[in-house]
Amino acid sequence: MGLVTSTEMFKKAYDGGYAIGAFNVNNMEIIQGITEAAGELNAPLILQVSKGARNYANHTYLLKLVEAAVEENPNIPICLHLDHGDTFELCKDCIDGGFTSVMIDASSKSFEDNIALTKQVVEYAHDKGVVVEAELGTLAGVEDEVKVAAGDASYTKPEEVEEFVEKTGCDSLAIAIGTSHGAFKFTPEQCTRDENGILVPPPLRFDVLEECIKRLPGFPIVLHGSSSVPQEFVAEVNKYGGNMPDAIGIPEDQLREAAKLAVCKINIDSDIRLAITASVRKHFAEHPEHFDPREYLKPARQAVKDMVARKMINVLGCDGKA
Ligand code: G3H
Ligand code: 13P
Ligand code: ZN
Repeated sequence: MGLVTSTEMFKKAYDGGYAIGAFNVNNMEIIQGITEAAGELNAPLILQVSKGARNYANHTYLLKLVEAAVEENPNIPICLHLDHGDTFELCKDCIDGGFTSVMIDASSKSFEDNIALTKQVVEYAHDKGVVVEAELGTLAGVEDEVKVAAGDASYTKPEEVEEFVEKTGCDSLAIAIGTSHGAFKFTPEQCTRDENGILVPPPLRFDVLEECIKRLPGFPIVLHGSSSVPQEFVAEVNKYGGNMPDAIGIPEDQLREAAKLAVCKINIDSDIRLAITASVRKHFAEHPEHFDPREYLKPARQAVKDMVARKMINVLGCDGKA
């Protein structure tokens, strides 16, 4: 099938009431774990590469690994996306370098400057058949190595979305409705506790989402910061020598609800990191004599695959939709 843009995927996802998983990739095992799950489940897929991933693994290595995954999984459409591009030059590099989709994240700029930079990227990208995701509103957590404190996060203003989309020509829009990057999305003070004492995060702002949908009918919405931070991974990390107290994510039932609405792309990175770290920590605790990386990376890759498969079936609803 070759690499594709997300246009067709989003159209089907919007009409079908499900979302495409956009998973961050940094190395071969992560790419294999995700694409094996998608291939077996017949699920359309977005693999996304951040600036940090490019710095870590190198553009060409990641591109070639993704191309290998495409060849190994001819039954599913795969889109290769730049996550959180922060400059025109970075977006251009990825557009010229084989990506089929880029995000220009100018959400920290003024409304006018966000429009101007996004428009510049859209014009260049569309000319080359590449699609563009933009962002309005600011998520808490870490974006492009910049830590945004919870207090500095701001929800997307629905009254701005029509003008933004019309003036920029972007193909999808990431909005801020209370999700957050990383594995510590909320402080215990921001949460309540259920009858078992488990932290319950503040609910997503579905009112903001619905207001955006009303103003942009048929337009694909993106949610960043959407790892659910499965507590079984956190418990395993902590059991085997890790230290991640109060790690907490977005409840999966809320993501499922969003996927039924106009949310067509749901970004997941931290859950991959957690699946790998939990697996590797357990492996070393149980096999202190092992030193062949294949011995601990094989179960780690399987843990990524199992997590992604669960997510596709239970949260995204994209299984069987290729
Ligand atoms: O949104 C950020 C993604 O989780 C990528 O993180 O910049 O550390 O690769 P990174
Ligand atoms: P998480 O940190 O919740 O996995 O979010 C990832 C993300 O939004 C990548 O752009
Ligand atoms: Zn993000």
